[in-house]
Amino acid sequence: MNIHNAIREGTKFLRKNNVKYPELDSELLLAKVLRKEREYLILNLDKNVNEDNLKDYKDLIEERSFGKPIAYLTKKKSFWNSEFEIREGVLIPRPDTEILIQEALKILKFKNQSSILDIGVGSGCILLSILREKPFSYGTGIDISNKSINLSNINAKKLGILNRVKFVKTDVDNFYFGKYDLIISNPPYIKNNEIKYLENDVKNFEPKLALDGGLDGTFKILKIIKKASFLLKKNGKLILEISKDQKTSVTKLLKKEGFYINKTRKDYAQNDRCIISSKI
Ligand SMILES: C[S@@+](CC[C@H](N)C(=O)[O-])C[C@H]1O[C@@H](n2cnc3c(N)ncnc32)[C@H](O)[C@@H]1O
Repeated sequence: MNIHNAIREGTKFLRKNNVKYPELDSELLLAKVLRKEREYLILNLDKNVNEDNLKDYKDLIEERSFGKPIAYLTKKKSFWNSEFEIREGVLIPRPDTEILIQEALKILKFKNQSSILDIGVGSGCILLSILREKPFSYGTGIDISNKSINLSNINAKKLGILNRVKFVKTDVDNFYFGKYDLIISNPPYIKNNEIKYLENDVKNFEPKLALDGGLDGTFKILKIIKKASFLLKKNGKLILEISKDQKTSVTKLLKKEGFYINKTRKDYAQNDRCIISSKI
């Protein structure tokens, strides 16, 4: 079978199984199997796909038809200006989270040697993206998940910044080390009775530990605010990702813990997505 027909068959199968972007996903999976970029496929539609590759491709198409996210199948995801290795058990970086990077870079614009803490570091996408942009800064990433700490180390090595970052496997509750200019976090913030309404790809495949924010979604956020109040230098900044209905409640928690609210930011869909505050 040639590349053109393999994509056509894959697309047909995924469409029948209600996958949102059947053609794109078929192309990405075939490119993964052939170890080529997507563009190669488009320029080589007549080339034959050998039996072994065809079998691997069909297996991936089948997994995708069950809802497994494309990033867990291709094992990579672009975020900000890097490509991150991705593994099952670790949250896939989201485009909206890039808003946190924009805000961090504004805060760090005139600072050279900043110390940055990322709470719930996951794949390392936030902390490593900032460190790539700020070559004299250094960072610490913490996470309760072993898989996240391993993957963050892999990504730091791949991006050549292992010497400016360290990762610690710990619950935020048990972490007391250092004083930071900037603390940043995309915490688990989904109300636990709303997890069942998330898309199948998310709720069936992404780690609950990365999503579950307790009864009202702010259980982990409050822990992070309290810990940030202890770990930030005076006038240090806290950047938090929130869900669209948490602006009022999280603002209240921040003020109660003695933070000054600098600003809130909306995401690409115009939902409140991020709060920037200062320790006073
Ligand atoms: C929403 S994910 C964010 C991952 C990554 N920063 C990103 O933006 O893609 C939240 C992360 O917090 C971690 N986490 C959950 N509870 C934690 C806790 N008590 N202490 C430290 N990390 C925790 C999860 O394992 C997960 O990696």
